[in-house]
Amino acid sequence: MQQKCKKVYITTPIYYVNDVPHIGHAYTTIIADTIARYSRLIGHQTLFLTGTDEHGQKIEEAAKKRNKNPKEYADEISSKFKSLWDDFEISYDKFIRTTDENHIKGVQKAFEVMMSNGDIYKDQYEGHYCVSCETFFTQTQLFDDECCPDCGKQTNLVKEESYFFKLSKYEDKLLKWYQDKDNCILPKAKKNEVINFVKQGLHDLSITRTSFDWGVKLPKDLNEPKHVIYVWLDALMNYITALGYGDNEKEMDFWPATVHLVGKDILRFHAIYWPAFLMSLNLELPKHIAAHGWWTRNGEKMSKSKGNVVNPKEIADAYGLENFRYFLLREVPFGQDGDFSQKALIDRVNSDLGNDLGNLLNRIIGMSGKYFDFKIDSSYVEKFHKNELESADKIIDSLQEYIFDMQLNRYLEQMWKILTIANQAIATHEPWVKMKEQKIDEAMALVALVANLLAKVTIVLSPVMPKTCEKISNSLGFKISHDNYRYFIENKKLLETFRIKKTPPLFPKIEEELIKTATPTVKQEQESIITIDKFFETKIKIGTIIEAEEVKKSDRLLKLQVDLGEENPRQIIAGIKEFYTPQELINTQVCVVANLKPAKIMGLLSQGMLLGAKDKQSFCLIRPESHKKSGTPIG
Ligand code: ME8
Ligand code: MG
Repeated sequence: MQQKCKKVYITTPIYYVNDVPHIGHAYTTIIADTIARYSRLIGHQTLFLTGTDEHGQKIEEAAKKRNKNPKEYADEISSKFKSLWDDFEISYDKFIRTTDENHIKGVQKAFEVMMSNGDIYKDQYEGHYCVSCETFFTQTQLFDDECCPDCGKQTNLVKEESYFFKLSKYEDKLLKWYQDKDNCILPKAKKNEVINFVKQGLHDLSITRTSFDWGVKLPKDLNEPKHVIYVWLDALMNYITALGYGDNEKEMDFWPATVHLVGKDILRFHAIYWPAFLMSLNLELPKHIAAHGWWTRNGEKMSKSKGNVVNPKEIADAYGLENFRYFLLREVPFGQDGDFSQKALIDRVNSDLGNDLGNLLNRIIGMSGKYFDFKIDSSYVEKFHKNELESADKIIDSLQEYIFDMQLNRYLEQMWKILTIANQAIATHEPWVKMKEQKIDEAMALVALVANLLAKVTIVLSPVMPKTCEKISNSLGFKISHDNYRYFIENKKLLETFRIKKTPPLFPKIEEELIKTATPTVKQEQESIITIDKFFETKIKIGTIIEAEEVKKSDRLLKLQVDLGEENPRQIIAGIKEFYTPQELINTQVCVVANLKPAKIMGLLSQGMLLGAKDKQSFCLIRPESHKKSGTPIG
């Protein structure tokens, strides 16, 4: 990130309103908030934008499922995002909704400009579409022939008239941009992935849809009432329409964005489509696009669509909002995935925050009270602790680089090195011994050193933990402000005198997990509950195996003839060869799903499925306890 820029513009993705927010969204927003707060602290004029992405097929379907009209539904969920950010004291300056009038106007304007620049043409789109990801795929990109390579869901085959954006035209220009601007995409490993993707060749992009109508209409002059603008074109434009693009242009002087923060799931849209759109609009490209990793649960990406989400409000309420912020930023290196666990969060709070930070403040309060009536004088710090001061200042000098490279975990790690210097200084210089030996100046110098080090840390930690740092600074008797940032951090000065105030412990020890039933389990159970009617849609019957043989060339399969009391036995191909020999199956009874759609397995017709139970060690068939007539229904 450029350090001298006066105007800083930071964005989060605008979140889909298909469901309520989870910790993944909180993570992005908290990173962006931290950077925005830091930017303000060091004196930059800062604009921090977040919002919601409300158009498209996914939202239309989500609303329909709940018997709501899309706008009504979007209003409801958008306000949930907004109020979560308000509860979380996110310092956003603007909250944009893609249903805002001026956004819509801006998107239409952008469409016109791109068209007049010769980058849009009309044709027929034929290919696959993943509604969950709102993404087009070619047949070869699909996994298992029909599933989305990103989320694994079934895609739809789409054939419709469509306007296209000439993405292919921008291939070389994009590659040049990646090459010229070293830090345009962070982290570097992700940038290489993008470059490789582009090098494989870019197809023109379908940018209008006709099969539903919940989207921005095309500019009126085109007279194309059937078309709505592709939701990703609509959504990406938010970063400029929020500044007044195509409307009053009021804040366009914040463009180009300093950093677009995104999750790695949507890097491709931001690192390829978005700069190509901007080139077409003759606008500057963002300085940085920074992609972080995913929060997972038991190794799986947490997502609204999967229903395995952790509710951020619940965590923040239980463990403290700022502890949660610290944990999110400290626990995983930017760009990598992290598995969420309460245990890891508790460890961070008890150890980093409680032992290293909170105790230091307590010791300052304790020592200053006991020895100096809460008054500390820094006159002798330089004389006795030059080394410690120098080491701390060196660390402080390195901080900016970490934050501007999005390495917030390192930023915090460095700060904790200063806390270690302070804690070690107490252990080494034992002020209680100095007091006994009547070396009052030395004892005072030590306490003042530690108070100054904590003051410095408090200032640079404040973007991550604003309220907590305010409490610490109140206790030490100074204010967190840009002026004090300059005083302590830029000019490396010490506060001459402190008047310490007692404060209750900031990080009481957490003894056990505070949330007993994690939200995801509850949600999953609810989702898997079915009615009895639904259960009886599956016809399960007792079958008797009358013939069994191995399927040649297969390690897994047996070919069975199973009597279900019907005119002819059914042929069932079962993957149980590892566990049963054909001989031991003949004349035994099994439970058969009888109304399963017949399928071909290795070219052989299979007309049912056997019930079995498998754990890590072994597998067994489920059988009736006593012999039953073939075809007896189960239920
Ligand atoms: O993609 N871990 O919206 P979205 C970390 N509307 N971050 C996560 C996450 C996880 N498990 N899950 C989601 C969209 N996120 C589009 C964006 S922008 C012009 C349009 C975060 O609601 C992360 O920032 O699916 C990710 O990129 C974003 O939420 C996706 O949110
Ligand atoms: Mg998503």
